[in-house]
Amino acid sequence: MRKKIKKLIPTLFFNMVSFTGAAISAISVGLIVFLFALEFFGAHQKPYMGIITIVILPTFFLLGVVVIIVGMRIENKRRLKTGIIKSPFPTLDLNDSHQRRKFAFISVVFLSILLTSAFASFQIYEYTESVEFCGEVCHVVMKPEYTAYMFSPHAKVTCAECHVGAGADWYVKSKLTGAYQVYSVLFNKYARPIATPVRDLRPAQGTCEQCHWPKHFYRDKQVTKTYYMPDEKNTPWTISLLMKIGGGSPETGVTSGIHWHMNISNHVTYTAIDERRQEIPIIRVHHDDTNEDDEYVTTDVIDKTKLEKGETRKMDCIDCHNRPTHIYRTPEESINNLMKLEWISPTLPSVRSIASAALVKDYKTEEDAMNGIESTVKDTYKFKYPEVARTRQIEVDSVVSNLKRMYSRYIFPEMNVNWKNFPNNIGHYTYVGCFRCHDGKHVSKKTGKVLSKDCNTCHTILAQGQFSNVTSNAPTGLEFKHPIDIGDSWKTMNCSDCHKGE
Ligand code: HEC
Ligand code: HEC
Ligand code: HEC
Ligand code: HEC
Ligand code: HEC
Ligand code: HEC
Repeated sequence: MRKKIKKLIPTLFFNMVSFTGAAISAISVGLIVFLFALEFFGAHQKPYMGIITIVILPTFFLLGVVVIIVGMRIENKRRLKTGIIKSPFPTLDLNDSHQRRKFAFISVVFLSILLTSAFASFQIYEYTESVEFCGEVCHVVMKPEYTAYMFSPHAKVTCAECHVGAGADWYVKSKLTGAYQVYSVLFNKYARPIATPVRDLRPAQGTCEQCHWPKHFYRDKQVTKTYYMPDEKNTPWTISLLMKIGGGSPETGVTSGIHWHMNISNHVTYTAIDERRQEIPIIRVHHDDTNEDDEYVTTDVIDKTKLEKGETRKMDCIDCHNRPTHIYRTPEESINNLMKLEWISPTLPSVRSIASAALVKDYKTEEDAMNGIESTVKDTYKFKYPEVARTRQIEVDSVVSNLKRMYSRYIFPEMNVNWKNFPNNIGHYTYVGCFRCHDGKHVSKKTGKVLSKDCNTCHTILAQGQFSNVTSNAPTGLEFKHPIDIGDSWKTMNCSDCHKGE
């Protein structure tokens, strides 16, 4: 049997160089089979395993094949020189049964290599689109994005579904920018934090809208928020809002809601004059049905040189939902949530302000933060409330462990990632958000209409007050009451001028 196979292999193959190539290929195949078997039998997968089985080992396999061919060519040349053969190419006579079998054997080997390479390229393609490749391989660089993603509503959507989408053109585009990213990681040239917004992100039609149908926003959505004020009693305050998220299409309900911007027959384009798209002096609107254009311009003084350099952009989902998955929650949000769940006991004196002081400090590394959070909380209680520190130790410990958990989920000092560097454009409480345009200062050139800040335009205030279970309903909307008296400031200033997420 072995002799028979040996006869089928061209004699040119029997030289040291080709043997080396064959060894390289054989070892690669062996390792690939071994690693696949490990994966199959459920061994714990390390993030680098995919790169090895799907990219590195197959490359070595092909390298082996190339070495085999080179060896055979060298051998061929040697034989020509020494006169063992007369012509550089073999003569093929398919009527000779030995030669016929040899030809069939070589063709089968060649075809198998070809098919395997095709299969391997598909695997490489799949692998480079996987969450493992995008999120875990460069784990230091992508840790913030990956960690926040894991705790978001989109944790089961792959990175590629939002960042690449379907179609060959965006695949190629993303791999070209990807090549630069690999370079910048290898040579430590990447920005900390990674620049946001993403300039060449694919428009939402090719990504978000593959799963969310823009025409289909019609039900109002109730949002209830509970806050604890930074006083000794941690006074609770609740507000319940009915968000008017309709507006996608006249067939599915009112078209005056928040998703009006996304109505297929309206096009909103804006010019932003800062890197983060937070300052928007000019907005243009085009209505398909009436074929009319309008322009809203701010009454604030516009810096002409900045305006010339500004970025003009057609509004899509990402201009509001810029943090659908990499959500770096503010310390305020995290603490209020933990207190509502009673993982941080709201009856601990001043816990709201102590927790905040522990989270917002400028730590240099995650390790510093872990130590700092622990000492801030424990020392403050020991110093200011020794009785509490002594009798309610378990509750104080729970404050520490929960704050540490929130810190490592949403704040990454090594990459400079935190709530301050990544504004969330939904809302207007901690960041300017909707008030970038709806600030009562943008006036229509055509109709004189002002983009109003009126509190019942985007939501109806159903209930508000100091109790934790607010039930009073007011379908027409209540007038907003600021929890503490600040006069008219909440009307004349932006909420985010005072509320910084701390
Ligand atoms: C639900 C869609 C979605 C998914 C899933 C998603 N991203 Fe993003 N990502 C976005 C959007 C939208 C932005 C850009 C926001 C902007 O431009 O303001 C972004 C921005 C980024 C940025 C730039 C920094 C930043 O935070 O703005 C990085 C890096 C990133 N994503 C990596 C990843 C990785 C890695 C994964 C998978 C683990 C992933 N993304 C999954 C939607 C997504
Ligand atoms: C592969 C499908 C898919 C893609 C792509 C996708 N989403 Fe989603 N999205 C979902 C699913 C599924 C949910 C519901 C998650 C749940 O409620 O558990 C969701 C939920 C949401 C929510 C509600 C979140 C909440 O807090 O309840 C928003 C907002 C959203 N997506 C916006 C976006 C935006 C913006 C993009 C594009 C950057 C996008 N989605 C891309 C599937 C997708
Ligand atoms: C003008 C800003 C804006 C734009 C543009 C926008 N949205 Fe929204 N969207 C909102 C707001 C505000 C909410 C309510 C958020 C909340 O209170 O949780 C919302 C809610 C949603 C929800 C959750 C609905 C639910 O029932 O919970 C989804 C999904 C969503 N948007 C997807 C999209 C998609 C997809 C696009 C692009 C086609 C888009 N949005 C464009 C502002 C916007
Ligand atoms: C880039 C500027 C811009 C941003 C940012 C923006 N809007 Fe608008 N919005 C507009 C314009 C322009 C109109 C149209 C006014 C008109 O012509 O009637 C509008 C209209 C609306 C309407 C009323 C629709 C109607 O029929 O009158 C609602 C509700 C609304 N926006 C909610 C929001 C919410 C909520 C956000 C933040 C998540 C937001 N907008 C962010 C520009 C913006
Ligand atoms: C242009 C639309 C718009 C206008 C005008 C508007 N809001 Fe809002 N408001 C929103 C959106 C969007 C959210 C975010 C809801 C969410 O986080 O799910 C929000 C959230 C809030 C919250 C909860 C804050 C938080 O995130 O914890 C309060 C309180 C609030 N609004 C009060 C007001 C008051 C008071 C006014 C009038 C001065 C007002 N809003 C005007 C769109 C608007
Ligand atoms: C001039 C500054 C200022 C402005 C503007 C302002 N606030 Fe406040 N707000 C405060 C102060 C001070 C408190 C008391 C508690 C504190 O220090 O955080 C407070 C408390 C609150 C609370 C209770 C939760 C908490 O943090 O204690 C809510 C909710 C709130 N404000 C909503 C708003 C909204 C919504 C707007 C915009 C429409 C707004 N505020 C505008 C200064 C301001």
